[in-house]
Amino acid sequence: MQPKDLLQLSEQFGTPLYVYDAEKIKSQYNRLTKAFSKVEKLRINYAMKALSNVAILQLLEGMGSGLDTVSIQEVQLGLHAGYAPERIFYTPNGVSLEEIEEVNALGVQINIDNLSILEQFGAKHPDVPVCIRINPHVMAGGNANISVGHIDSKFGISVHQLPHLVRIVENTKMNIVGIHMHTGSDILDIEVFLYAAEILFDAARHFKNLEFLDFGSGFKVPYKKDDIETDIEELGKKLSKRFNEFCEEYGKNLTLIFEPGKFLVSEAGQFLVKVNVIKQTTSTVFAGIDSGFNHLIRPMFYGSQHHIENISNPKGKERFYSVVGYICETDTFANNRRIAEIKEGDILSFKNAGAYCFSMASNYNSRYKPAEVLWMNGQGHLIRAHETFEDLIKNQIGLPQTASI
Ligand SMILES: Cc1ncc(COP(=O)(O)O)c(C=O)c1O
Repeated sequence: MQPKDLLQLSEQFGTPLYVYDAEKIKSQYNRLTKAFSKVEKLRINYAMKALSNVAILQLLEGMGSGLDTVSIQEVQLGLHAGYAPERIFYTPNGVSLEEIEEVNALGVQINIDNLSILEQFGAKHPDVPVCIRINPHVMAGGNANISVGHIDSKFGISVHQLPHLVRIVENTKMNIVGIHMHTGSDILDIEVFLYAAEILFDAARHFKNLEFLDFGSGFKVPYKKDDIETDIEELGKKLSKRFNEFCEEYGKNLTLIFEPGKFLVSEAGQFLVKVNVIKQTTSTVFAGIDSGFNHLIRPMFYGSQHHIENISNPKGKERFYSVVGYICETDTFANNRRIAEIKEGDILSFKNAGAYCFSMASNYNSRYKPAEVLWMNGQGHLIRAHETFEDLIKNQIGLPQTASI
């Protein structure tokens, strides 16, 4: 997408505005499937927590993707978007047995990540095909919040508890059809994937009726110039080879599953904001924008760096700015960042705004959430309208007029 297209969208739909490029999502999907084309049965389940707009789900469904979900509400959204239940995978953490049973009743593949619920579920529903989430105890992931496969993590069943796990499966006679792991997001080194894969293969050898192995996700995408990214093509080559060897040893052509979020949608997204005010202090030039961590929390939450471009003046002389939000707390998007000269009223674009951006937005400070637009075939399609005051008060119940206070 060109800056002039983005400027036109900001005029047409107003700011703050999330814009997603359908072509980029498609090319990432195709890149991944091509990298693993040597695997006979490959399945991509889009991790919808990254960006759960129904139009995005429909776009990916049309490309042949399945869905990775973490809550019953995500399952319902997936069904609403048109996914067949058998194309939805449910990998919750810390949810109740009741929710798992409800999701199972919808015909969705469930994935259980702790021994207690596994035993209870297996005792009640021994015939249901179940996947189990293993914790391989691999320290991977870009930061502590998104590193989920290490020894102290709450996710998955420890590989050290395999004997206990196998005992539960034998006692309940439950039907284990898949093994899953996800070590974290933003994994820098493909050797980590390959190392963790061996642990998954070891776990898989304990189960005779497997249909698939799910390697989760964690592919790193570049966030800034010269940033590291996962070499998908090399991973495809090496992991496909090992996977095919394992299938031969196992005696069955298993399905290889990935559940990428960031890889599919991160780079497709841009967040457009307007500069409300330029404030020069004795030490800093602040650019105050019509947004805050209510709309894009990753820089404050994870310390992530989103590249920022002044699309109103892309060729302007670069100066140093601290880009800050309008929330009544410190919400700094960028500290002393070089950006083409900014004037009040200019439109800035935050890059890599597809994954974990809108989906983590809130109404903090009673601000509206932004609208979302999908750029497809050279046109912007509104896929979520700007909120209104009605949305803010929709579920709130004021005191009755008669209440004595
Ligand atoms: C179980 C599971 N699968 C897949 C993902 C998607 O990860 P990413 O967005 O890094 O691809 C996550 C992210 O939190 C996850 O927890």
